Amino acid sequence: MSLKPISATLGSHKMNRILEIKGLEGGYGSVQILNGINLYVDEGEFVTIIGPNGCGKSTFLKVLFGLATIHKGTVLHYSSDVSGWRTDKLVERGIAYVPQVDNIFPSLSVRENLQMGGIRLAPKKLKPGIERAVSMFPELELRMNDLAASLSGGERQMLAISRALISNPSFLLLDEPTAALSPKYQQQILTNLDALRSKGISILLVEQNARLSLSRSDRGYIFSNGKVVHTDNAKNILNDPKIGDYFLGLHS
Ligand SMILES: Nc1ncnc2c1ncn2[C@@H]1O[C@H](COP(=O)(O)OP(=O)(O)OP(=O)(O)O)[C@@H](O)[C@H]1O
Ligand SMILES: [Mg+2]
Repeated sequence: MSLKPISATLGSHKMNRILEIKGLEGGYGSVQILNGINLYVDEGEFVTIIGPNGCGKSTFLKVLFGLATIHKGTVLHYSSDVSGWRTDKLVERGIAYVPQVDNIFPSLSVRENLQMGGIRLAPKKLKPGIERAVSMFPELELRMNDLAASLSGGERQMLAISRALISNPSFLLLDEPTAALSPKYQQQILTNLDALRSKGISILLVEQNARLSLSRSDRGYIFSNGKVVHTDNAKNILNDPKIGDYFLGLHS
Protein backbone atom coordinates (compact mmCIF):
# COMPACT_ATOMS: atom_id res chain seq x y z
CA MET A 1 0.00 0.00 0.00
CA SER A 2 1.39 3.40 -0.88
CA LEU A 3 1.62 6.06 1.80
CA LYS A 4 -0.26 9.30 1.44
CA PRO A 5 2.06 12.28 1.10
CA ILE A 6 2.38 14.16 4.38
CA SER A 7 1.03 17.30 2.76
CA ALA A 8 -2.24 15.52 1.98
CA THR A 9 -2.52 14.23 5.55
CA LEU A 10 -1.87 17.64 7.03
CA GLY A 11 -4.18 19.34 4.60
CA SER A 12 -1.36 21.69 3.68
CA HIS A 13 -2.70 21.88 0.09
CA LYS A 14 -4.21 25.13 1.36
CA MET A 15 -0.69 26.55 1.28
CA ASN A 16 -0.72 26.03 -2.48
CA ARG A 17 -4.00 27.76 -3.09
CA ILE A 18 -2.85 30.79 -5.02
CA LEU A 19 -6.31 32.33 -5.10
CA GLU A 20 -9.46 31.76 -3.14
CA ILE A 21 -12.56 33.88 -3.63
CA LYS A 22 -15.40 33.64 -1.16
CA GLY A 23 -18.82 35.22 -1.60
CA LEU A 24 -17.52 38.03 -3.77
CA GLU A 25 -19.96 40.81 -4.56
CA GLY A 26 -18.86 43.92 -6.38
CA GLY A 27 -18.95 46.10 -9.45
CA TYR A 28 -18.50 49.74 -10.34
CA GLY A 29 -19.05 52.18 -7.48
CA SER A 30 -22.40 51.25 -6.00
CA VAL A 31 -23.50 49.35 -9.13
CA GLN A 32 -23.40 45.65 -8.31
CA ILE A 33 -22.42 43.26 -11.10
CA LEU A 34 -20.99 40.28 -9.19
CA ASN A 35 -23.54 38.53 -7.01
CA GLY A 36 -21.57 36.17 -4.79
CA ILE A 37 -18.71 34.42 -6.58
CA ASN A 38 -16.87 31.45 -5.08
CA LEU A 39 -13.81 30.31 -7.02
CA TYR A 40 -10.28 29.07 -6.42
CA VAL A 41 -7.06 28.50 -8.32
CA ASP A 42 -4.35 26.20 -7.03
CA GLU A 43 -0.68 26.83 -7.73
CA GLY A 44 0.24 25.65 -11.23
CA GLU A 45 -3.36 25.37 -12.40
CA PHE A 46 -4.83 26.60 -15.66
CA VAL A 47 -8.43 27.63 -14.97
CA THR A 48 -10.89 28.96 -17.55
CA ILE A 49 -13.99 31.09 -17.01
CA ILE A 50 -16.66 31.10 -19.71
CA GLY A 51 -20.09 32.70 -19.85
CA PRO A 52 -22.33 34.86 -22.00
CA ASN A 53 -21.61 38.48 -22.89
CA GLY A 54 -22.23 40.91 -20.07
CA CYS A 55 -22.33 38.28 -17.28
CA GLY A 56 -19.47 39.87 -15.35
CA LYS A 57 -16.35 37.97 -16.43
CA SER A 58 -14.28 41.09 -17.11
CA THR A 59 -15.66 42.79 -14.01
CA PHE A 60 -14.52 39.80 -11.96
CA LEU A 61 -10.93 40.04 -13.24
CA LYS A 62 -10.97 43.80 -12.68
CA VAL A 63 -12.09 43.33 -9.09
CA LEU A 64 -9.28 40.82 -8.55
CA PHE A 65 -6.75 43.30 -9.90
CA GLY A 66 -7.95 46.27 -7.85
CA LEU A 67 -9.68 47.99 -10.78
CA ALA A 68 -13.31 47.62 -9.68
CA THR A 69 -15.07 47.77 -6.33
CA ILE A 70 -15.60 44.96 -3.82
CA HIS A 71 -18.85 45.25 -1.86
CA LYS A 72 -18.67 42.01 0.06
CA GLY A 73 -16.65 38.80 0.33
CA THR A 74 -12.95 38.02 0.37
CA VAL A 75 -10.04 37.57 -2.01
CA LEU A 76 -7.29 35.40 -0.55
CA HIS A 77 -3.86 35.17 -2.19
CA TYR A 78 -1.89 32.33 -0.60
CA SER A 79 -4.28 32.58 2.36
CA SER A 80 -3.59 36.32 2.87
CA ASP A 81 -6.58 38.60 2.57
CA VAL A 82 -5.84 41.00 -0.30
CA SER A 83 -9.45 42.13 -0.80
CA GLY A 84 -9.55 45.70 -2.06
CA TRP A 85 -5.77 45.99 -2.35
CA ARG A 86 -4.31 48.48 -4.80
CA THR A 87 -3.12 47.20 -8.14
CA ASP A 88 0.54 48.03 -7.53
CA LYS A 89 0.52 46.04 -4.29
CA LEU A 90 -1.03 43.08 -6.11
CA VAL A 91 1.69 43.31 -8.78
CA GLU A 92 4.30 43.19 -6.00
CA ARG A 93 2.70 39.94 -4.83
CA GLY A 94 3.23 38.42 -8.28
CA ILE A 95 -0.15 38.95 -9.90
CA ALA A 96 -0.42 40.31 -13.45
CA TYR A 97 -3.38 41.08 -15.69
CA VAL A 98 -3.95 41.34 -19.44
CA PRO A 99 -7.10 43.40 -20.04
CA GLN A 100 -9.68 42.62 -22.73
CA VAL A 101 -9.44 46.03 -24.38
CA ASP A 102 -7.00 48.94 -24.48
CA ASN A 103 -4.18 46.67 -23.44
CA ILE A 104 -1.43 48.46 -25.37
CA PHE A 105 -0.53 52.06 -26.27
CA PRO A 106 -0.82 52.24 -30.09
CA SER A 107 1.07 55.52 -30.39
CA LEU A 108 4.15 54.15 -28.60
CA SER A 109 6.73 51.76 -30.03
CA VAL A 110 6.79 48.13 -29.02
CA ARG A 111 9.86 48.82 -26.87
CA GLU A 112 8.20 51.78 -25.16
CA ASN A 113 5.10 49.69 -24.46
CA LEU A 114 7.30 47.13 -22.76
CA GLN A 115 9.12 49.81 -20.80
CA MET A 116 5.73 51.10 -19.62
CA GLY A 117 4.90 47.58 -18.46
CA GLY A 118 7.98 47.68 -16.24
CA ILE A 119 7.59 51.26 -15.10
CA ARG A 120 7.62 50.30 -11.43
CA LEU A 121 10.59 47.96 -11.72
CA ALA A 122 14.06 48.90 -10.52
CA PRO A 123 16.08 49.95 -13.62
CA LYS A 124 18.38 46.93 -13.35
CA LYS A 125 15.39 44.58 -13.49
CA LEU A 126 13.79 46.26 -16.50
CA LYS A 127 16.17 45.04 -19.20
CA PRO A 128 16.13 41.37 -18.15
CA GLY A 129 12.35 41.69 -17.67
CA ILE A 130 11.90 42.88 -21.25
CA GLU A 131 14.28 40.24 -22.58
CA ARG A 132 12.45 37.47 -20.72
CA ALA A 133 9.06 38.71 -21.89
CA VAL A 134 9.92 39.01 -25.58
CA SER A 135 11.91 35.77 -25.66
CA MET A 136 8.53 34.02 -25.86
CA PHE A 137 7.50 36.03 -28.88
CA PRO A 138 10.23 36.17 -31.54
CA GLU A 139 7.84 38.17 -33.77
CA LEU A 140 8.02 41.04 -31.29
CA GLU A 141 11.79 40.99 -31.09
CA LEU A 142 11.84 41.94 -34.76
CA ARG A 143 9.39 44.81 -34.24
CA MET A 144 10.85 46.54 -31.17
CA ASN A 145 11.17 49.96 -32.84
CA ASP A 146 7.84 49.88 -34.72
CA LEU A 147 4.75 51.67 -33.48
CA ALA A 148 2.37 49.32 -31.69
CA ALA A 149 -0.36 50.70 -33.98
CA SER A 150 1.33 48.93 -36.87
CA LEU A 151 1.05 45.46 -35.26
CA SER A 152 -1.53 42.89 -36.32
CA GLY A 153 -4.25 41.88 -33.86
CA GLY A 154 -2.31 38.76 -32.87
CA GLU A 155 0.93 40.67 -32.42
CA ARG A 156 -0.87 43.22 -30.24
CA GLN A 157 -2.06 40.45 -27.94
CA MET A 158 1.50 39.11 -27.80
CA LEU A 159 2.67 42.57 -26.80
CA ALA A 160 -0.06 42.85 -24.17
CA ILE A 161 0.93 39.49 -22.68
CA SER A 162 4.63 40.41 -22.82
CA ARG A 163 3.93 43.63 -20.95
CA ALA A 164 2.21 41.68 -18.20
CA LEU A 165 5.18 39.30 -17.95
CA ILE A 166 7.76 42.00 -17.30
CA SER A 167 6.99 42.07 -13.59
CA ASN A 168 7.84 38.33 -13.50
CA PRO A 169 4.44 37.24 -12.20
CA SER A 170 3.56 33.86 -10.74
CA PHE A 171 -0.14 34.31 -11.46
CA LEU A 172 -1.56 35.66 -14.70
CA LEU A 173 -5.14 36.85 -15.27
CA LEU A 174 -6.09 37.12 -18.94
CA ASP A 175 -9.29 38.51 -20.42
CA GLU A 176 -10.15 37.02 -23.83
CA PRO A 177 -6.67 37.18 -25.35
CA THR A 178 -7.83 35.38 -28.50
CA ALA A 179 -10.90 37.54 -29.23
CA ALA A 180 -11.16 38.59 -32.88
CA LEU A 181 -7.99 36.74 -33.85
CA SER A 182 -7.55 34.34 -36.76
CA PRO A 183 -7.52 30.62 -35.83
CA LYS A 184 -3.75 30.59 -36.37
CA TYR A 185 -3.17 33.37 -33.85
CA GLN A 186 -5.72 31.93 -31.42
CA GLN A 187 -3.79 28.69 -31.42
CA GLN A 188 -0.48 30.48 -31.07
CA ILE A 189 -1.59 32.61 -28.13
CA LEU A 190 -2.99 29.61 -26.29
CA THR A 191 0.18 27.62 -27.00
CA ASN A 192 2.11 30.50 -25.43
CA LEU A 193 -0.10 30.19 -22.36
CA ASP A 194 0.70 26.47 -22.22
CA ALA A 195 4.39 27.39 -22.23
CA LEU A 196 3.88 29.88 -19.39
CA ARG A 197 2.02 27.31 -17.42
CA SER A 198 4.81 24.80 -17.92
CA LYS A 199 7.18 27.40 -16.44
CA GLY A 200 5.07 27.31 -13.28
CA ILE A 201 2.86 30.35 -13.87
CA SER A 202 -0.71 29.79 -12.71
CA ILE A 203 -3.34 31.00 -15.16
CA LEU A 204 -6.89 32.29 -14.81
CA LEU A 205 -8.28 32.80 -18.29
CA VAL A 206 -11.57 34.33 -19.44
CA GLU A 207 -12.35 33.00 -22.91
CA GLN A 208 -15.07 32.89 -25.54
CA ASN A 209 -13.24 30.13 -27.38
CA ALA A 210 -14.50 27.63 -24.87
CA ARG A 211 -13.35 24.44 -26.57
CA LEU A 212 -9.87 25.72 -27.30
CA SER A 213 -9.36 27.00 -23.77
CA LEU A 214 -11.06 24.20 -21.80
CA SER A 215 -9.14 21.57 -23.74
CA ARG A 216 -5.90 22.78 -22.07
CA SER A 217 -7.43 23.73 -18.69
CA ASP A 218 -7.53 21.83 -15.43
CA ARG A 219 -10.90 23.23 -14.37
CA GLY A 220 -13.58 25.55 -15.62
CA TYR A 221 -16.22 27.91 -14.24
CA ILE A 222 -19.35 29.02 -16.04
CA PHE A 223 -20.62 32.45 -15.07
CA SER A 224 -24.09 33.79 -15.66
CA ASN A 225 -25.56 36.99 -14.31
CA GLY A 226 -22.65 37.69 -11.97
CA LYS A 227 -22.65 34.20 -10.46
CA VAL A 228 -20.93 30.86 -10.91
CA VAL A 229 -23.64 28.58 -12.30
CA HIS A 230 -21.41 25.56 -12.87
CA THR A 231 -17.89 24.38 -12.11
CA ASP A 232 -16.15 21.09 -12.82
CA ASN A 233 -12.93 19.73 -14.20
CA ALA A 234 -12.46 20.94 -17.74
CA LYS A 235 -12.84 17.51 -19.31
CA ASN A 236 -16.26 17.01 -17.75
CA ILE A 237 -17.43 20.42 -18.94
CA LEU A 238 -16.23 19.64 -22.45
CA ASN A 239 -18.04 16.30 -22.42
CA ASP A 240 -21.27 17.52 -20.84
CA PRO A 241 -23.81 17.60 -23.68
CA LYS A 242 -26.04 20.20 -22.01
CA ILE A 243 -23.21 22.64 -21.51
CA GLY A 244 -21.71 21.73 -24.85
CA ASP A 245 -24.87 22.65 -26.74
CA TYR A 246 -25.05 26.03 -25.17
CA PHE A 247 -21.53 27.32 -24.84
CA LEU A 248 -19.25 25.22 -26.94
CA GLY A 249 -21.50 25.28 -29.98
CA LEU A 250 -21.82 29.02 -29.77
CA HIS A 251 -18.25 29.95 -29.33
CA SER A 252 -15.99 27.40 -30.95
N1 LIG B 1 -17.10 50.76 -16.14
C1 LIG B 1 -18.35 50.28 -15.99
N2 LIG B 1 -19.28 50.95 -15.28
C2 LIG B 1 -20.52 50.46 -15.10
N3 LIG B 1 -20.94 49.26 -15.58
C3 LIG B 1 -20.06 48.56 -16.31
C4 LIG B 1 -18.72 49.01 -16.55
N4 LIG B 1 -18.08 48.09 -17.29
C5 LIG B 1 -18.98 47.10 -17.51
N5 LIG B 1 -20.17 47.37 -16.92
C6 LIG B 1 -21.37 46.54 -16.92
O1 LIG B 1 -21.10 45.37 -16.16
C7 LIG B 1 -21.79 44.24 -16.73
C8 LIG B 1 -20.81 43.11 -16.92
O2 LIG B 1 -19.83 43.52 -17.88
P1 LIG B 1 -18.50 42.70 -18.12
O3 LIG B 1 -17.67 43.53 -19.02
O4 LIG B 1 -17.93 42.27 -16.83
O5 LIG B 1 -19.08 41.40 -18.88
P2 LIG B 1 -18.32 40.23 -19.62
O6 LIG B 1 -18.85 38.96 -19.07
O7 LIG B 1 -16.86 40.45 -19.56
O8 LIG B 1 -18.85 40.40 -21.13
P3 LIG B 1 -18.09 40.14 -22.55
O9 LIG B 1 -18.16 38.65 -22.77
O10 LIG B 1 -18.94 40.90 -23.52
O11 LIG B 1 -16.69 40.67 -22.46
C9 LIG B 1 -22.44 44.74 -18.02
O12 LIG B 1 -23.80 44.96 -17.76
C10 LIG B 1 -21.71 46.03 -18.31
O13 LIG B 1 -22.55 46.95 -18.97
MG1 LIG C 1 -15.45 40.85 -20.96
